Amino acid sequence: MLKHKIERICNMPTLDLVPATSDDFRRLAERRLPRPLFDYIDGGAIDEETLRANSGAFRSVLLNQRVMRDVSMTDTRTELFGQAVAMPLALSPVGMAGMMARRAEVQAARAAEAANVPFCLSTVSICPLEEVASQTTQPFWFQLYMLKDRGHVSELLQRARNVGCRTLVFTVDLPIVGTRYRDVRNGMAGGLGLAGRLRAGLVEYASHPAWAVDVGLRGRPLVFGNIAEYVPNARTPAAFKSWLDAQLDPSVTWKDIEWIRSIWPGDLVIKGILNVADAISATDVGADAIIVSNHGGRQLDSVSPTLRVLPRIAEAIRGRATVLIDSGVRNGQDVLKAIALGASAAMIGRPWIWAVAGGGERGLRNLLSNFKQDLVTTMSLSGVQTVPEISASALAAPQP
Ligand SMILES: Cc1cc2nc3c(=O)[nH]c(=O)nc-3n(C[C@H](O)[C@H](O)[C@H](O)COP(=O)(O)O)c2cc1C
Repeated sequence: MLKHKIERICNMPTLDLVPATSDDFRRLAERRLPRPLFDYIDGGAIDEETLRANSGAFRSVLLNQRVMRDVSMTDTRTELFGQAVAMPLALSPVGMAGMMARRAEVQAARAAEAANVPFCLSTVSICPLEEVASQTTQPFWFQLYMLKDRGHVSELLQRARNVGCRTLVFTVDLPIVGTRYRDVRNGMAGGLGLAGRLRAGLVEYASHPAWAVDVGLRGRPLVFGNIAEYVPNARTPAAFKSWLDAQLDPSVTWKDIEWIRSIWPGDLVIKGILNVADAISATDVGADAIIVSNHGGRQLDSVSPTLRVLPRIAEAIRGRATVLIDSGVRNGQDVLKAIALGASAAMIGRPWIWAVAGGGERGLRNLLSNFKQDLVTTMSLSGVQTVPEISASALAAPQP
């Protein structure tokens, strides 16, 4: 009784259970965040069919249990872009993460560094490149959207190089922002008049005092750190968002990626590929890697879940570029399934931001440690000891 009262007043779960899975952290984040922010993370485009199908595709793949294979030395280590990593997993870019927990991008980058997996910073992060670099010791990845002002683009790339980023993730599936009805209803996509915004905002934000103190007060400045200097008059995340929506360049084509290739000497990763033709175009313009991604079901609804298209894409560009995948990965078993179907590594978006929103840096460290443990267990029970040994034979045949 007292426990429930405390939880209601503070909007903080009294942690009588240890959160272990992505879904546990999702529930903690739901209790902790004002509804518009939770929905911004949790929601997808239109009817959210692809959002649901993404993780459904992972659930529906069956594994092939193998026994008596000496799995006493199971090892999840691998290499990504010449860097040794603890397991084939990386953190996808998540915009506005710093609205979900105090300076969340720094917390996530530090947790990723402790787990020795790559962290990718979004163009539209709250913490700027320089702040994340000052709080970490290892190079992180930087994600970029094409902005209409190419001068801003080259400046951002120069800043990324200055802080030691060697891997650029260029996102190609967002020439315009997808329609997300939860954001429309909550006023996150604009559209609510001032009175509506005040009503929705005040009630929601005021009823989450723990968030208001942690982020609203102690997490400031709540600006889009990387682009703040280009929008000197913007004061609120909403003002930054409208500037960004107007700056996203819908005219972008592969020609622009050729230009990016010519000015970015490091690894170039193209994020948001869902078919063979686009995968080949990406390698033709010099991409070192692609990410098979549908933006976590946030852009075009009713497209294929990523796991379904992965094998064909991986087959088509084998030996020409590294293939990564995200959208729907929720545990270490999913990581093994992705690798068995042709990826070199998997990436997670929502799970990491749920973990930081629900449990801070420590929460994300726990989640990453559980991903690793899942992977060890799944590899062991599938009879494989190392990541290169994971192949289609780790999956049941025939699949349902
Ligand atoms: C709240 C949120 C914000 C995101 N912001 C970005 C972004 O700024 N840049 C980007 O390339 N992808 C962004 N994504 C997409 C993720 O990088 C990733 O593709 C997606 O979350 C993977 O699906 P998952 O959430 O099911 O793991 C965002 C996703 C979410 C959920």
